[in-house]
Amino acid sequence: KPSNDPITIGQVELLARQKLPSQVYDYYASGADDQRVKDSNTADFDEVLRDVSCVDTSVNILGHRYSLPIGIAPSAMQRLASPGGEKDVAKAASSMGLNLTLSSNSTTSLEDVIKTLHESNGLKSGPRFWFQIYLPSNLKLSIPLIRRAEAAGYQALVLTVDSPVLGSRINERQTPLVLPKGIELVNIAKSHGPSPGKPSFNRILADARTKQQYDEGLREAEGKANNASLTWDSTIKFLRQTTNMKIILKGIMAPEDAELAIKHGVDAIIVSNHGGRQLDCVPSTIKALPEIAAAVKGKVPIIFDGGIRHGSDILKALALGADFVLVGRPILWGLAFKGTEGVQTVMNILERELSRTMALAGTAKIQDIDASFLRRSVEGRL
Ligand code: FNR
Repeated sequence: KPSNDPITIGQVELLARQKLPSQVYDYYASGADDQRVKDSNTADFDEVLRDVSCVDTSVNILGHRYSLPIGIAPSAMQRLASPGGEKDVAKAASSMGLNLTLSSNSTTSLEDVIKTLHESNGLKSGPRFWFQIYLPSNLKLSIPLIRRAEAAGYQALVLTVDSPVLGSRINERQTPLVLPKGIELVNIAKSHGPSPGKPSFNRILADARTKQQYDEGLREAEGKANNASLTWDSTIKFLRQTTNMKIILKGIMAPEDAELAIKHGVDAIIVSNHGGRQLDCVPSTIKALPEIAAAVKGKVPIIFDGGIRHGSDILKALALGADFVLVGRPILWGLAFKGTEGVQTVMNILERELSRTMALAGTAKIQDIDASFLRRSVEGRL
């Protein structure tokens, strides 16, 4: 009897779409404005010739070995996809030995998420989890949150630097996403939530009856969460003084910024345009990657995200200079489809596709993948 299990990420997305309220599907799926960057993130992979194969897909990143060069990107509000939310995703990561970055805008506390690691592998032998933050204008407000992440056992702090202000998300503005009762941004509510005596931002947004009220609430929440005045000197110094965790910058799209990140002593960078959700006129990440890799020259690990939907996309990103990749939306589709099992399905699909691509391209080790695996397409494009 033929199996109904999804065998591609596209099929998992279709199943997730059937299950999710359209507002939630739109929130997860959309990019900014006309979706140009979001669409080019995936489409530009088709301009890189496919090639390669299998055997050992394991890699080392920041001192730890993972069975796959694929981590889980931070994405907000996962309990909108399934009741288990972030915990279900973390269980999948723990059970498969995968790296995970938790969004500070998660709907499960950072302590509860890392508990899944203690429960399965134990923190010593298992994978490492990282914690993502945005820094508020008043840097000091973030200290309790950073200390909590360190105390809980997160290995690295991922500072997202592509969001001085929130991108323009047309569908979110037209149909505001209201968090259902009982679902809250539990991490940041404690640290840089609303001023004492004021209702929580979730409450303000949920109670907003007009678009104007909603926009005002959002602006106030953003003022606390997003910071348009971060500078290289103050930020990295502040983080180093505050924590011993590794520091990773997420949202690097230019070689000059990669060089500055290295100069200021970060431990790794993530080439990312936030899944096309911020500025709708930047290059796709796969097109931005080669120049950045040339500037980095192997001095720090390059992590890459944006548009990865096939195992072959991973090989292409590695061939163009990435050391590790993250996937965002496919995890949300898997979660909506079938909780922990759905996320495992997504990762198994990518693992099988990556192994097969490596085998077909004739390489047995991730470390051997380099630019020689790529050919320009007939049109002379990448
Ligand atoms: C994100 N992303 C994100 N990034 C971040 O640093 N903090 C966050 O809270 C979020 N939240 C978030 C929510 C949703 C719904 C999406 C789709 C994305 C960006 C994410 O980490 C990653 O950069 C992209 O999702 C990668 O692109 P793909 O794999 O989704 O194409």
